This record gives sequence, C-alpha cells and structure tokens, in this order.
Amino acid sequence: MNKPLLIGHRGARGLAPENTLLALDAGIGAGCLWLEFDVQRHPAGHLFLLHDLTLDRTTSGKGVATECDWYELRMLDAGGQQHIPTLDEALDLIDQRARVNIELKTWDGTAAAVAECLKARLAEGWPAEQFLVSSFHLPELYEFRQLLPEVPVGVLLCGVPLDWAACATELQAVALNQSAEFVDARLIADAKARGLTVNVYTVNDVEEYQRLAAMGVDGVFTDVPGRLRNAGGFAD
Ligand code: G3P
Ligand code: MG
Repeated sequence: MNKPLLIGHRGARGLAPENTLLALDAGIGAGCLWLEFDVQRHPAGHLFLLHDLTLDRTTSGKGVATECDWYELRMLDAGGQQHIPTLDEALDLIDQRARVNIELKTWDGTAAAVAECLKARLAEGWPAEQFLVSSFHLPELYEFRQLLPEVPVGVLLCGVPLDWAACATELQAVALNQSAEFVDARLIADAKARGLTVNVYTVNDVEEYQRLAAMGVDGVFTDVPGRLRNAGGFAD
C-alpha cells in the first residue's frame, strides 16, 4: 500500500515546543524528510516562527505578536526555554537536512519578505525543491508565486471549494494541503487528476493514517512522526 510521507508539524510539536528550534531538531531526529512551520512578519521587517496571531498560548508573552516590540518578543520563552526563532535561524538549523514547508500566516508583506529570504538561500545553493511555501491566504501565496516562481507552492484548504482543486491549478501549485476534517474522495481525485500532491493535516492517529493511505493521500502533517512510522501494515 501507498505509505504517505511524514511531515513534521510545527517542527514535531508532539516532541518539543511547537515552532521552536528544538521542535525542528526533534523532527529531523525522528526521521522526517519534510518539516512544516508557521511564519509571520513583524512590522520591524523580521520573519519569525509562530502559529497563533497572539503570544498567549505558546509563549510567556501576551497580546498580538506583531504588536509586540521586536526585542521584547525575542526575549520571550516559547517553551522549554526556547526563544521564538527567526526564519533564518530555522533554515540555518535545518541546513538542508530536511525539506521545508513554510506556511505564511500573515500577509501585507509576508510573501515579499519570505521571497527575499529564500532568494538568498537559492543563491547559496539550496535547491528550490527544498522548499514548499503554502498559505490559507491564497492572494498572499499568489504574490509569492509571482515574486519567486521557481519555489513550489501549496494551497492550504480547510473546506471543500465549489470548484474542487481548481484554485491550485490557477496558482500553479504543486500541492494541495487539506484539513483532515474535509478529506473528500472527490477532492482528492480532482487534485490527483490535476497532477497535485495531496497532504493532510493533522494526523496523529495510526488508523486514520492507514485510512488516508488507502485513499491515496501522499503525505500527512503529524505531531508524532515516530508513532506513525511504527504503524503496521506498510511495506518499507
Ligand atoms: O500546513 C499545515 C497545517 O499546519 C495548517 O494548519 O493551523 O496547524 O497551521 P495549522
Ligand atoms: Mg501550519
């Protein structure tokens, strides 16, 4: 049977505080060939890793992250005495040991800033295929695509559009990253017919993983890569 690729979710948030360097390292240690993390742009111009728009849930800070003074934000504890990393720190740590799915969480300049950062990495010799840039904010993703067309993009969905996976074709995306809540076989079939890779988030349950494998899903975002790797029923 098809064995979906394991993509470490927010690094590997089941193993270490999400979106920290420790979580990225844990994902690599757990054998993930791909790591996903969330990126926001601070008005001071910096790109940083954080899922929520507010600091409260995952850090020692409070309030909207992009409204926090940059130097104060960098002093916060993001769990396990980790700080909130910048995109460059995350890429330096990964150092091409895994492929990288950067999810754009903010807009208004995020696409342009990420494109600048990745352009520099490409100039250093990182292959463009090392990256996948994705977002729920499709206009922001479109902007990224215009700015750096050599880097592949993936459409993020949390629902089923009227015209199925057509938005991915319009964006010249290579992947459709769909919520586990909305895995409809017709959407998967349409995505496959369009030549897209289909990845599902977030999958931590072995039986769900096996069911998605049987449906032809190519990859899953998981907090617990070790658990799914040890799932039975797959030929290596
Ligand atoms: O990119 C897949 C997944 O991370 C999208 O949802 O909310 O975990 O960022 P979320
Ligand atoms: Mg994400």
